[in-house]
Amino acid sequence: MKAIILAGGSGTRLYPVTLAINKHFLPIYNKPMIYYPLSLVMLLGIRDILFIVKPEDLADFQKLLKNGSHLGINIQYQIQKKPNGLAEGLVLAEDFIGDDNICYMLGDNIFFGHDLVKIMDEARQEIEKNGGAYVFGYYVKDPERFGIVELDDQGNVISLEEKPKKPKSNFAVVGMYFYDNEALEIAKNVKPSDRGELEITSVNEEYLRRGKLKVKLLGRGFAWFDAGTHDSFLEAGEFVATIEKRTGLMIGCIEEIAFRNGWITREQLLELTKPLRKTEYGRYLCEIVKSEE
Ligand code: G1P
Repeated sequence: MKAIILAGGSGTRLYPVTLAINKHFLPIYNKPMIYYPLSLVMLLGIRDILFIVKPEDLADFQKLLKNGSHLGINIQYQIQKKPNGLAEGLVLAEDFIGDDNICYMLGDNIFFGHDLVKIMDEARQEIEKNGGAYVFGYYVKDPERFGIVELDDQGNVISLEEKPKKPKSNFAVVGMYFYDNEALEIAKNVKPSDRGELEITSVNEEYLRRGKLKVKLLGRGFAWFDAGTHDSFLEAGEFVATIEKRTGLMIGCIEEIAFRNGWITREQLLELTKPLRKTEYGRYLCEIVKSEE
């Protein structure tokens, strides 16, 4: 399985903050927003990762994440000229994906919860064994902001809708999707929605039509933020700060994950701490280096 992280978009809901900077570089507390989805992909053990970026942001992404070799991963970049929608990300990733299955993450989605990676791994295994699509639902109080899934009493999917004015349920489909390779073909045939975008919901609807869509609900023990508005951005940052200060453990620390996955050595980790030493982030990594001596 390979991963795609969508980091394009125009960020209009964060204006004027994002007039001059891509939202994925903004800090969710102590690290760039994009570290969070990247860390989940890494925790899942996926090392081939494609970032979909806007042309004007490519150089900054390369500055931040390079080709990933310092983290023991392979990062590639694909330009998305215009924010034509999430389904276009799949189309653009065709060469990178080849014959593989796909983990598709949205760059502005932040997740936290016990056994999250285990749950993601179950989705991955299901796709690798039986194909289809596997997505997650999360109860929200503002469903009109998201893609929504309607379920019957047995948990079967009845319908999907993108940003409905009158939502049929409170379950948002979160920005973490697992697909078999057919998603590439399906995405190519998606037609623009009323808001003029190639919607990921249309891809999911096609899987539903084929009887190949699985939805797992994330329970109340999970936290999910779409950090794409001023409020959710702030709330995500406060949440991360609260958990990190309480536990002394970091969320979304990509260098730590690379090291604990055995993808980089202690010496390599030590090297990565050097430019970070003035920060708590750097000190945290130094502690990990020391504890492994
Ligand atoms: C996108 C998807 C939507 C999904 C949401 C999750 O919305 O279109 O289905 O629920 O991400 O963050 P967007 O953030 O592009 O408006």
